[in-house]
Amino acid sequence: MAVNQPLTALQVMQDAPVIPVIVLNEVAHAVPMAKALVAGGIRMLEITLRTPVALECMRRIAAEVPEAVVGAGTIRSAADAKAALAAGARFGVSPGYTHTLGKTCQDIGLPLLPGVATGSEIMQAQEDGYTELKFFPAMQAGGPNMLKAWAGPFADIRFCPTGGVSPENAGQFLSLPNVVVVGGSWLTPNDLMIKGDWAQITALAKQAAALPR
Ligand code: 3PG
Repeated sequence: MAVNQPLTALQVMQDAPVIPVIVLNEVAHAVPMAKALVAGGIRMLEITLRTPVALECMRRIAAEVPEAVVGAGTIRSAADAKAALAAGARFGVSPGYTHTLGKTCQDIGLPLLPGVATGSEIMQAQEDGYTELKFFPAMQAGGPNMLKAWAGPFADIRFCPTGGVSPENAGQFLSLPNVVVVGGSWLTPNDLMIKGDWAQITALAKQAAALPR
């Protein structure tokens, strides 16, 4: 898949077994962190809109690391989605779902992985045209057994479980037929970024990229 083409949510999910959920506190960390992940085989990067520097970090990565695909996480509103797109995000991830957010992302052309945790939320997202969804918070809301239960009534939905996923339990999720990819923050611990230990982040990315699915 060429990374400079418009993407679908499914392509974002299929690129590697893990989408890193990244909290950046320093603009200076953005580019070396992105390069470290790409060097380890992970190029779909979810930068969470949780810090004041998040949008600037997206702009820097989009401009300086062309091998990476910048995504925005923690999108909660139409304004978040528009700001992320303007900062260079090429996909979005949300912790929940609203009709307004879903419609906005369709209107502005931002592929969205909407967050769901219940059958009703799945039905609302699907009614609005979304069939690739984030299951959040995955471990807290039922873990792999919840996805097994959903495989019956929601057989046409594909999930990205996120929240409490780790190298230890990622395999349990990735072996499920309705799971394409998992999300997790373990690839980019803040202490490694503060130390500038980019080699260790590359090592974590390589392990994640090698997970079977
Ligand atoms: C989040 O939104 O913080 C993600 O779900 C990451 O969760 P994790 O830290 O448990 O991987």
